[in-house]
Amino acid sequence: MLVDAFGRRVTNLRISVTSRCNLNCFYCHQEGYSSDKELTPDEISEIAGAFKSLGIRKVKITGGEPLIRKDIVEIVEKLPEFDEVSMTTNGALLPRYAHELSEAGLDRVNVSLDTLDEEKYRIMTRGGRIERVIDGIHEAVNAGLTPVKINMVLISGFNLEEVDRMVEFVRKFNGKVILQLIELVSLNYNGEGHFDVYELARKFEENAKEVRVRSMQRRKQYVFEDYAVELVKPVDNSEFCSACNRIRVTADGKIKPCLMRNDNLIDIRGLRGESLINAIKKAVMLREPYYRG
Ligand code: 5AD
Repeated sequence: MLVDAFGRRVTNLRISVTSRCNLNCFYCHQEGYSSDKELTPDEISEIAGAFKSLGIRKVKITGGEPLIRKDIVEIVEKLPEFDEVSMTTNGALLPRYAHELSEAGLDRVNVSLDTLDEEKYRIMTRGGRIERVIDGIHEAVNAGLTPVKINMVLISGFNLEEVDRMVEFVRKFNGKVILQLIELVSLNYNGEGHFDVYELARKFEENAKEVRVRSMQRRKQYVFEDYAVELVKPVDNSEFCSACNRIRVTADGKIKPCLMRNDNLIDIRGLRGESLINAIKKAVMLREPYYRG
């Protein structure tokens, strides 16, 4: 079991498999950015195996956009067994890959979709085509990559007034899709448009069948008859940090102890066996809450 110096258990691993992306969203914080050579499927498998032996339960494949890697199916296939293997994707290539990924062992996907307006989507992603993403979501649901979570980053002056429309969209999937409303993080970005997602709490509390606080980052979840909404508030939120159970690996094989920092990465590329295990333990000890209570 991995526990850091603040008593936080680390159970979730996020592996970035590429920093490249087929879109270019203006607000993107480029989680785990690197320009160096990408890890191979075998290297990813080795690293995931080491984390598993230390008690990691869930793995998320992230990017950049994971689906632009030609060997993405092989990457998923070669992962060891976990309680859950999921992927965050912009969805554009899901029509092509959803079924193959499901067969390769992927359990779920998160699809980034911040607007349902075709023109806004094109502007925001600098050229993306929304109909491919919508098809992708349908394919993911058909392939059983459920619950599909829609990641909607809320930006005031841009998409705030679309929350109700997005809720209606999600409801059509009869409980197979969950809406995550995510607060904008201003990393690599000037922060214009920031909106406190907890301002929506009351709106959802009123009619929810059930209100939960998830152990993961103390997220607020509202359960309704045919859908659920989760409020993800990473900014200025010490509860988010105190309940953080994540650790990241960048596309070129460095452990990243905190989403918000790039100054304490630990290179694990090429390490195996005992030295890999020791490097992971060392990286876990570098974890500290970014926002403190
Ligand atoms: N703020 C919040 N979330 C972000 N993401 C990317 N950039 C940001 C940001 N600046 C998250 C979103 C998106 C996923 C790819 O990464 O959830 O869907």
